Amino acid sequence: MKNEIIAVYPGSFDPLTKGHLDIIEKASKIFPVVVVAVANNYSKQNTFSVTERLGMMKESIKIKNVKIDSFSGLLVDYLDNIGSFVVIRGLRALSDFEYEFQMALMNRTLNNKIETIFLMPDHKYTFLSSSMVREIASLGGNFKNFVPPAVYKTMKKKFK
Ligand code: PNS
Repeated sequence: MKNEIIAVYPGSFDPLTKGHLDIIEKASKIFPVVVVAVANNYSKQNTFSVTERLGMMKESIKIKNVKIDSFSGLLVDYLDNIGSFVVIRGLRALSDFEYEFQMALMNRTLNNKIETIFLMPDHKYTFLSSSMVREIASLGGNFKNFVPPAVYKTMKKKFK
């Protein structure tokens, strides 16, 4: 259908967790098209390359109206390129708020058409973050319940 709203869920996804998946599922029930966009962010030291992150995500996300992509540069420029004005972000706890608020307002300052919509993950994921999963994996802990199977497999190989 033409003129469908495209919602973009951007992030580092280093790696994708079950908390991200929960947000993706929720967004896919609200918007006709959701693009999960992996940031190719040179200012950030990522554990997984964009190719690795995309690979794990393509194996883990099988929802009809959800597409997976990557972008470099400014998020507002990417949104413009694909004809979107909606950004989805997950908000877990108050500690996320300041960073998210700053980012949403900066994106709106760069392009006043951009709206950021915050979705709350299920309460069982409020403590979960990619950085914690990476730390647990690198220290040999059990992180199986926190990530989709494809991510678990790739991480086990990386941290063996
Ligand atoms: O998962 P993250 O690391 O919290 O995601 C942050 C991300 C990738 C959404 C943000 O860093 C971003 O949009 N980067 C692209 C560059 C950009 O547009 N920077 C200005 C945003 S304030």
